[in-house]
Amino acid sequence: FCCRGLKETMCQPYERYLQEILIDSESLQQRVIELAGMINKDYAETRKLLLVCILKGGVIFLADLVRHLTVPHSIDFMAISSYGNATVSSGVVAILKDLERDITGRHILIVEDIIDTGHTLAYLTENLRLRAPASVRICTLLSKPSRRKVDLKIDYIGFEIPNEFVVGYGLDYDGKYRNLPDVSILGDDCQGGSK
Ligand code: IMP
Ligand code: MG
Repeated sequence: FCCRGLKETMCQPYERYLQEILIDSESLQQRVIELAGMINKDYAETRKLLLVCILKGGVIFLADLVRHLTVPHSIDFMAISSYGNATVSSGVVAILKDLERDITGRHILIVEDIIDTGHTLAYLTENLRLRAPASVRICTLLSKPSRRKVDLKIDYIGFEIPNEFVVGYGLDYDGKYRNLPDVSILGDDCQGGSK
């Protein structure tokens, strides 16, 4: 019934559509602590740090990350839609929800779930830079370097992963699977369907 590699205790009906666990929850937690350590060090002297979480995929990562931050900071959220079908990014981006406050003079750290082609973050960093912040950096949990279409400087990367469609720990397929504690590869038979 369950797919290979998935813990039976975690088995929910839809987990049968997952192929295998790529990064388990313990590894994710460990890496989040390491990333938070780097951020604490790099921003130790910084005031006015604002973490900008990209909805919805970034929320689980953000929630875990901030609990290991010791540097003073605020959080805010943006929601973005990239047109195109669910598994291929088109590079056309629209802002669905903008930041609550002005970011002039603030140090911005974007918190994102995954960078694939890089189109979304290229658009976003440019958009934020036009608002005259003190700095803009990027922290992404996952990156698929083999898929990159635009040159993008990423300051913090949790894991580089192969060109597979993954779900869990905030990442979705068709709005689902965000709650899963591990990052798993979605089965091929799901990607064309509506599982
Ligand atoms: P990019 O603009 O191509 O870098 O796409 C980034 C966005 O595509 C991410 O924020 C995700 O919403 C989505 N995405 C890309 N790859 C995956 C994946 O493997 N699983 C889930 N969402 C993904
Ligand atoms: Mg995203």
